[in-house]
Amino acid sequence: MQPDLPRLEELLREAWAAREKAYAPYSGYRVGAALLGEGGRMYRGCNVENAAYPATVCAERTALLSAVADGERRFVALAVVAGGPHPPAPCGLCRQALAEFGKNLVVIAQKDRGEDYVVFSLEDLFPAPFRL
Ligand code: THU
Repeated sequence: MQPDLPRLEELLREAWAAREKAYAPYSGYRVGAALLGEGGRMYRGCNVENAAYPATVCAERTALLSAVADGERRFVALAVVAGGPHPPAPCGLCRQALAEFGKNLVVIAQKDRGEDYVVFSLEDLFPAPFRL
């Protein structure tokens, strides 16, 4: 299911709002995410870093965990936003985590508010997830 344009714009706005809450004292790289569930709700996430670096959680997984904890398991689209030179496509670990809940996810990445964005399908980004 491809999100209609008004929802896509709304999802990007949610992701930028989520980025305001990013906790990134070590890298200084602030990321926001918003995940649209099939139930129509949007779930925000930001990166949350830790002095023990591997304990850091990416914005995408923060949004995913919030959604699943709320009872949503089916997703339409994910927006990820950050400043910097590249649109923030999700890292490999986040791709694996997202793939757990289906491959028909539309992933939108934007590197500056109001700039062009790139659109991927999770299937293209991560065609062969690990499965048990
Ligand atoms: N980060 C994300 O939030 N999402 C990604 O997909 C990749 C990286 C965060 C983790 C860390 O806080 C910072 O960006 C630098 O890697």
